[in-house]
Amino acid sequence: MKADLAMFGGKPAVRAAYRRLEWPVVTDADREAVGRVLDSRKFTVGAKNEAEIHGLEREWAEFCDTRHAVSVNSGTVALELALAALGLGPGDEVIVPALSYVATAMAPLYSLAVPVFVDIDPVTFNIDVTRIEEKITNRTRAIVPVHLGGLPAEMDEILALAKKYDLLVVEDAVQAQGGTYRGRTCGSIGDAAVFSLNVEKSIPTCGEGGLVVTDREDVAERIRSLRILGEDLSTEERLYVSATRGSNLKLSSVLAAFTRSQLARFWDYQHKRDANTPVFVDRLAQLPGIVVPTVPDDRTHMWHMLRFRFDPRAAGLDGVSPGRFRAALRRALLAEGVPLTHYQIIPLPGQPVFQDQNAYGNGLPWSLPGTNPQRYDLADYPVTCQVIEDSLCLRRMHLNPEAGPALAEYATAFERVWDNLDRVGKFARAMPYEPPWHSVPNGPRLPEANTEAKAA
Ligand SMILES: Cc1ncc(COP(=O)(O)O)c(C=O)c1O
Repeated sequence: MKADLAMFGGKPAVRAAYRRLEWPVVTDADREAVGRVLDSRKFTVGAKNEAEIHGLEREWAEFCDTRHAVSVNSGTVALELALAALGLGPGDEVIVPALSYVATAMAPLYSLAVPVFVDIDPVTFNIDVTRIEEKITNRTRAIVPVHLGGLPAEMDEILALAKKYDLLVVEDAVQAQGGTYRGRTCGSIGDAAVFSLNVEKSIPTCGEGGLVVTDREDVAERIRSLRILGEDLSTEERLYVSATRGSNLKLSSVLAAFTRSQLARFWDYQHKRDANTPVFVDRLAQLPGIVVPTVPDDRTHMWHMLRFRFDPRAAGLDGVSPGRFRAALRRALLAEGVPLTHYQIIPLPGQPVFQDQNAYGNGLPWSLPGTNPQRYDLADYPVTCQVIEDSLCLRRMHLNPEAGPALAEYATAFERVWDNLDRVGKFARAMPYEPPWHSVPNGPRLPEANTEAKAA
């Protein structure tokens, strides 16, 4: 007999303890690392013989196969400083994907540069490399590919374009710590790369932090200065003399010590994820109408996030639009206890900050003389819109190294929902529906033809 769905009063498939898993995993080794700093009384990078920040920077550079790693207090700051240190200036254009965390697109504003968005690839969810060239102008200075969800972007194509047009490449490797692309480590492929250590990342700290990696000595040196009010660091004794504008953006020693401890057991955790995540993904792949993450042979997936697309036709639900199918599945699977989330409810160019061109007032930096006008129209990002409208994600904390049994229950929940697709389809047809980006207060709208009506 078919089990009744939890959304219709049945018992949820996933036990309560598996509905929210813990991440980061904190062990005695982490406690010992933090305690070591408290006992040493060396809390900042400037303390004499400070060991943890310097140790983390050395180990992170080694981990990424780069010559330098410079720590800062978040991944966002890492990207802001990387672009600034590479020489980005007012009115320059930076190409970014239309799907990422908003920090990717916001960071150029730090240098008064403007983001230019490119639609994503429907399979990898990374920047669509076939659509970059049409966005390159006389003002383009850099491309920031994001290794979204843990899957490296098409770096060879991006490097070729960068060479052709003399552009900088900064990898946003925040979600792909430890990943590889054609044998190269994420972070070592572009001119510089950035990482975040926030608590959701695979190698976290106990708070916020970030790192820039690069082979370029000059860039590393500039970031070291920018993170401490632009001070001139060429003298042995600190003279408190600022050569340029900067801010106080340093990481603390406690946070560095915690991350070193997590870094030391990262591969152990990753191997466990490499064992249990594909088992889960393969079970879901058996269900018609679920499109599971793809891993091309030439790169690794670091399982930071899993995105599943839902195709109502392949599931046998003709006449139900992908948006409605996804919305009904969200209701059904959340009721079963599967902790699915959206990751972005709107393409980045649709964010009010870009729609209203509201950064520093007076339309700056978009209003700077000589700056190319930007048109942030959602209709230019059809794939990103479709992916946001027809997919749901499972995030980092639910892919922790011990998540195997929880993932098995999530798979059972999906199977139960698929056993009842006729009822889910009926629910999907009758429910009130709006695309996810309509939840953005005063957010942009798309012509109906681009969303539900087109899909159905
Ligand atoms: C792709 C991406 N870039 C940049 C960032 C910014 O990192 P942070 O939160 O440390 O500022 C994040 C944060 O999660 C991210 O996912």
